[in-house]
Amino acid sequence: MSFALTDTRMTTPSAGGPAASSRQPSDTDTAAAPAPPAAGDRAAILVVDDDRDDRRHLERTLRGAVGGDVAVRHAADSAAALELLRTERFRVALIDLQLGAESGLELVRQAGGRVCATPLILLTGAGTRANDVAAMAAGVIDHIDKQDLTPTMLARTIRYACHTHALERRLHDTMQRLERASRAKSDFLARMSHDFRTPLNAILGFSELIRDEIMGPVGNRAYADYAGDIHASGSHLLDLVNDVLDLARIEAGQFRLEPVAVDIAAAVADAVRVAAPLAARKDIRIGADPMTDLPRLRADARALKQMLLNLLSNAVKFTEPGGTIHVAAGRDARGHRLAVTDTGIGIEAGDIARVLAPFGQAGPTIGRDDAGTGLGLPIVKSLIEAHGGRLEIDSAPGKGTAVTLRFPA
Ligand SMILES: Nc1ncnc2c1ncn2[C@@H]1O[C@H](COP(=O)(O)OP(=O)(O)OP(=O)(O)O)[C@@H](O)[C@H]1O
Ligand SMILES: [Mg+2]
Repeated sequence: MSFALTDTRMTTPSAGGPAASSRQPSDTDTAAAPAPPAAGDRAAILVVDDDRDDRRHLERTLRGAVGGDVAVRHAADSAAALELLRTERFRVALIDLQLGAESGLELVRQAGGRVCATPLILLTGAGTRANDVAAMAAGVIDHIDKQDLTPTMLARTIRYACHTHALERRLHDTMQRLERASRAKSDFLARMSHDFRTPLNAILGFSELIRDEIMGPVGNRAYADYAGDIHASGSHLLDLVNDVLDLARIEAGQFRLEPVAVDIAAAVADAVRVAAPLAARKDIRIGADPMTDLPRLRADARALKQMLLNLLSNAVKFTEPGGTIHVAAGRDARGHRLAVTDTGIGIEAGDIARVLAPFGQAGPTIGRDDAGTGLGLPIVKSLIEAHGGRLEIDSAPGKGTAVTLRFPA
């Protein structure tokens, strides 16, 4: 203990004395009522100091601050304080920074800091910035410079500390609940993925066998066609399950990016090759910038391919026959830019936020042969954001759409 609690500004009225009766009633009442009321109004206050006289002095100040009838417990060292904090609940603990050879900060850390069941307030000899930072890092709810210690100041600090602590506990509990819920969701999705995919693979494999009459001709033509329909629906369902899983995985931060130096021209050419037959079927021209001198892009190759394919599939889907699709790429000081532009139906400005949200679609989808699920763009958005980049949509109804992926430099 390096600081004697004999500040001249400090008053130490005894219980029921004149200073106690002139005390603002709210000092006691509100200090004992954190939101939600924690240990109740009557919980004791713990004073941790290695100097017996200082503990008594602080106790007197406390009685002046929060009422003469407050129960005050004393602890002379870290071990005793830790034992009490572990086994009992206190309205608040006032801990001296220097506990003989021990540090009050270490006690705060061992007690759990901000998630300790009791709000921990540190008393320091000098409220320097360094003390302030160290106290905050250790997890105290507040700290008081002993030079400032008056009953009014103490009452106010306790009141705020209880309130802040109650809020922090609630936040902590909520975060834990959310983490548990998120883990449960991931577990559920992992199970669902397995449970859906296994039977789907059988459906796809056997319907393909029948459709293609691998083991011999099917007697009735219609049955072979139905097998083709089963296969197409099964494939669609599998895509859907995979999309939902991808999005859930990215959102849960479980999609691990493996960035490599990607040759953009080759990646774009690959994606265009996949989309070309679909475009050709709709008489849509599809092309790309030469991208010859473009420096390599640091990105996850699989994610980049998925982003390009999702964007190209949208461009094909939402462009009328006779239209064009173009992929452009460039790099400036801000980083790489990849844009897929089409001359399709476009998106109303008011629909942009919706189409970027999972399952959000603009315009009627019922009756469309190629109706999707509304997961393609949200997946692209999550993937580009996982790269530290962003997605931009520039669209005009009836004119076309440009979706740009901006990668960070
Ligand atoms: N290039 C585009 N031109 C016009 N509208 C588009 C374009 N790309 C996306 N949209 C609109 O955004 C919606 C959402 O796109 P998204 O890719 O997320 O879903 P989807 O293509 O409908 O289904 P999925 O991609 O899951 O198969 C689309 O339904 C469409 O309304
Ligand atoms: Mg799509």
